[in-house]
Amino acid sequence: MKDRKVIVKVPASTANLGPGFDTLGMALSLYAWIEMSESVTGETTFQLYGDGMEGLPQDKSNLIYKVAQLVFEEAGVAVPELHIAMYSDIPLTRGLGSSASAIVGALVAANALIGSPHSDDKLFQMATELEGHPDNVGASLFGGIVVSAWDGSEAQHVRIEPHNRLETLVAIPAFQLSTEKARHALPSQISMADAVFNVGRSSLLVAALASGELGLIRHAMQDRLHQPYRAALIPGMVEILERAADFGALGAALSGAGPTLIAFVDTESQGKAALQQFLKATLAKEGIDAETLWLSPCTSGPVVTVEEGSAGSQTETGETVTLLDRIKGEIKA
Ligand code: HSE
Repeated sequence: MKDRKVIVKVPASTANLGPGFDTLGMALSLYAWIEMSESVTGETTFQLYGDGMEGLPQDKSNLIYKVAQLVFEEAGVAVPELHIAMYSDIPLTRGLGSSASAIVGALVAANALIGSPHSDDKLFQMATELEGHPDNVGASLFGGIVVSAWDGSEAQHVRIEPHNRLETLVAIPAFQLSTEKARHALPSQISMADAVFNVGRSSLLVAALASGELGLIRHAMQDRLHQPYRAALIPGMVEILERAADFGALGAALSGAGPTLIAFVDTESQGKAALQQFLKATLAKEGIDAETLWLSPCTSGPVVTVEEGSAGSQTETGETVTLLDRIKGEIKA
C-alpha cells in the first residue's frame, strides 16, 4: 500500500427529480476527481483545484481526510498521514451533489487504497449516514437513476438504467444556496392531500423512468413537498417549472435543494435552443445570471484507477505528475 496511488472519478448528481424528496437521484456527466495515497513526507498534504476549492480546509478537518479515516477505522487499518488531491467541475452548493460526490469519492478512494475490504453496499450505508439522506450519494455511487429509502440506520436502493434518449439541461444560477438554508424553508408537517399527491407523482415517475414512458414525466414531475416552499429562494423557478414543457422539456424540477434548475429532455427534441433560451431569459428577468449546461445521465458510478509503485508519478524529466496533469484532457477548465 505504501506505493499505491488511487485516482477516483466520481459523477455529480441531481436529487429529488421533483416529487421524490430525499429518495430519487440521478448521476450526471459532470465530474470530480480525487487522488489519494499514503503520504511519503510523513505529513498530510493537500492539492485542491477548481472553482471555490481554495476556500476548503487543508488540514485534518478536511472532509475527504475525515471520510478516509472513517473507512480505515471501519476496516481496522491505520493510515494517519495521506496525500490528497482533488479537482472538481461540480459547482459547490448549487444543488448538483458536490458534497455527496466528495463523500463518495473519498469513501471509494480510501477503500481502494487499503485493498477494498468494504462492499459497495457498506460504502452506501456510510455515505448515507454522512450525508443524512441517500439520494445524491446513491446516484454518485451506483450511477444511473437510484431509488432509495433510509430509516435512519439502514438504506435500501434499486438502480434504474436511464432511457438512452434522456438528457438534461441544467441552469446553474450564479448564487450559492446552502442545503441547510433550503431545508430550513420546509414545513415540519404537511397535509394528507399533499402527501397523497406526492406518493402518486413519485410512484408514477419511477414507473415511467423504469418502463421508458418518457411522455409521462411531465405529469409525474410535480411536487408539493419541497419545491413550493423553496420557490422564494429561487426567483424564476415557478415560471420555469410551469412552462418548461411548452418549450419541449419532458419535465422540469429544482435540482436537489437548488438553486440549479433541471429540465429533462428527449435527445431528439427539436426545441433545445428555445428551451435553453427560455431558462436563461426567465432567470435573467429576475436579475439572475445563470450558466446552462447540457448533461447526460452518467450510467456508471466512480471509475477507479490504482497505480502500484512510484512509476507513473514522475515525468521523464523527474517532475512529479500532478492530478491536473493526469486529467487535463477530461476537465472543463
Ligand atoms: N434531498 C435533498 C434536499 C437534496 O432536497 O434537501 C439536497 O442535498
